[in-house]
Amino acid sequence: MSTTYEQAYVHSLTNPEEFWAQKAEEVHWYKRWHTVLDDSLPPFYRWFVGGKINSCYNALDLHVENGRGEQLALVYDSPVTNSVRTFTYRELLERVARFAGALAAQGVQRGDRVIIYMPMVPEAAIAMLACARIGAIHSVVFGGFAANELATRIDDARPKLILAASCGIEVDRIVPYKPLLDQAIELAETKPERCIILQRPQAQAEMVARRDLDWTELAAAAQPVDCVPVAATDPLYILYTSGTTGMPKGVVRDNGGHLVALKWSMKNIYGVDGGDVYWAASDVGWVVGHSYIVYAPLFIGCTSILYEGKPVGTPDPGAFWRVISQYGVNALFTAPTAFRAIKREDPNGDFLRKYDLDTFRTLFLAGERCDPDTLLWAREQLQVPVIDHWWQTETGWPIGANCIGLGMLPVKPGSCTKPVPGYDVRVLDDDGTEVEANQIGNIAVKMPLPPGCLLTLWNNDDGFQEAYLSQYPGYYLTADAGFKDEDGYLSIMSRTDDIINVAGHRLSTGAMEEVLADHPDVAECAVIGAADDLKGQLPLGFVVLKAGVARGHEAIAPELIQMVRAKIGPVASFKTALVVERLPKTRSGKILRGTMKKIADGEEYRTPATIDDPEILREIEASLADLS
Ligand code: COA
Ligand code: AMP
Repeated sequence: MSTTYEQAYVHSLTNPEEFWAQKAEEVHWYKRWHTVLDDSLPPFYRWFVGGKINSCYNALDLHVENGRGEQLALVYDSPVTNSVRTFTYRELLERVARFAGALAAQGVQRGDRVIIYMPMVPEAAIAMLACARIGAIHSVVFGGFAANELATRIDDARPKLILAASCGIEVDRIVPYKPLLDQAIELAETKPERCIILQRPQAQAEMVARRDLDWTELAAAAQPVDCVPVAATDPLYILYTSGTTGMPKGVVRDNGGHLVALKWSMKNIYGVDGGDVYWAASDVGWVVGHSYIVYAPLFIGCTSILYEGKPVGTPDPGAFWRVISQYGVNALFTAPTAFRAIKREDPNGDFLRKYDLDTFRTLFLAGERCDPDTLLWAREQLQVPVIDHWWQTETGWPIGANCIGLGMLPVKPGSCTKPVPGYDVRVLDDDGTEVEANQIGNIAVKMPLPPGCLLTLWNNDDGFQEAYLSQYPGYYLTADAGFKDEDGYLSIMSRTDDIINVAGHRLSTGAMEEVLADHPDVAECAVIGAADDLKGQLPLGFVVLKAGVARGHEAIAPELIQMVRAKIGPVASFKTALVVERLPKTRSGKILRGTMKKIADGEEYRTPATIDDPEILREIEASLADLS
């Protein structure tokens, strides 16, 4: 007898059109689609072609019309400002409709881009939904990125407006956003017509005359507007994510496929339904925040928690348990690093036992590889299922998971369980042949991807094909390496490109190398991701100085650290740079980053046969030993 999961999985691959058309019945359409899947222009597949829809309508208006108006839609809990604000579905709709009116009054129309550079405040979610309401395309930029990163995104997205707040708050440090925004606009070639600034009481932003408008005044004066029906295939948002260079990739998500897939995922993957309380402890600047703080919980009618704080230090390692008990959270989604941080400060769970966690049913972890120790510790402490699941900014929802709504499968720590319905996941060798069970290979997904995944890269169809579809024609390359075991369980082990994962944040070592190479004294450099007990990985930079530079490590390393912080942002956590005599290379000149990483992680390594001079590896070992 096959399980519900197996039936759904087989159905989704043998007849994807029928499978997803059934799921699409669950959402509101102004006009139904005429084609479920348009595969006439591969690899540019489109879902629900001909359909007219509005994502904001499905998130808010529909629930108010169906009697959910007085239920809480959003709870903003902010230990860093010591405040809580709650919004029922009716109240959130009122705020969003009014702010959408404010945007429309500024001339924002369907298809216009709006950049949102905001901390974790409810206005960030209101802004996203307001854009969706009028068919504008939002692009949220994470607050921990520096002005230069924001400028790159401004130039690529060419926004009509930028929405920002006066500051973010990092535990007890006020981070003024406005100077970063002003600097970014200065750096960017494309200048937005207007900026709308939310003045937070913790920092007053200086306004630029004729360009900057006050959020609160504008929203108060605005007239609410109705939803604009958009094509299911119209972009809902662009979200930039790290690529292999300093130029981030603008992942484009549609309205229709995204809505159908995300709504389905709530019941079937996360096992939650309307009325449940769902908390994704992430940030609206990341894909997890887009999908599972804002859109999916509202599509299904949950109460979503928007938490402006950290797992530890705001004020203690009981912060998560306090939130769960205070709001009756049923499911929590966060990154393993948050649990490593809690475990480090409260190994015996003393803080946990101060709270009543009766409502809590499931913990979901994603964003980085979940080490079995962390999973087992969380399970033992919480006494609920702990589900590791795997996904990417590009897919927008999980590729591999234990779909608890389809019947929970046995958990194997270290594995994200099985491919989610819709994803035909294959593990391939370099020639594109599927490898045997338990053999590591490149993980690819047979096209077409299910609804909700990226349509393309913004203004860069060629880049989309080059990055994801050129290595194995007909397959989407995840750039993750891993294996399937004899039961079909997937384990995701590492990236195959230069992306590293720092505290669940995706960063490009290539981008950091570009910054280091800009230092006037640096001849060449390499950045690797070294293993870290708390953050999973931390970047580690090696630089070789130009001949004749008299200054040494002591003087130059702090400058390099400061440059990465200023150009990429504090989120890069770039805290270690090492000046070395030479970098290990193959005879053809390729830097042996993999071997350097093994040395940094204290793992055994083989001296590659192609190495130019094996002695350099000893030098690297010695430099690292000096450092520690
Ligand atoms: N705005 C400005 N600065 C920010 C920021 C923001 N939105 N987010 C992070 N930063 C800064 C931090 O203050 C820190 O600065 P510092 O170097 O001066 O200390 C730096 O960027 C690194 O941040 P982070 O990696 O988050 O480290 P942390 O030490 O502040 O916290 C954890 C460590 C593990 C507690 C934290 O990373 C965490 O809670 N992670 C949870 C997982 C998560 O959110 N994952 C996202 C995907 S699901
Ligand atoms: P992001 O695009 O920021 O969501 O990062 C996606 C990358 O994070 C993936 O390509 C993986 O390398 C890694 N990742 C996410 N979830 C998991 C997981 N459950 N197990 C292992 N790696 C993961």
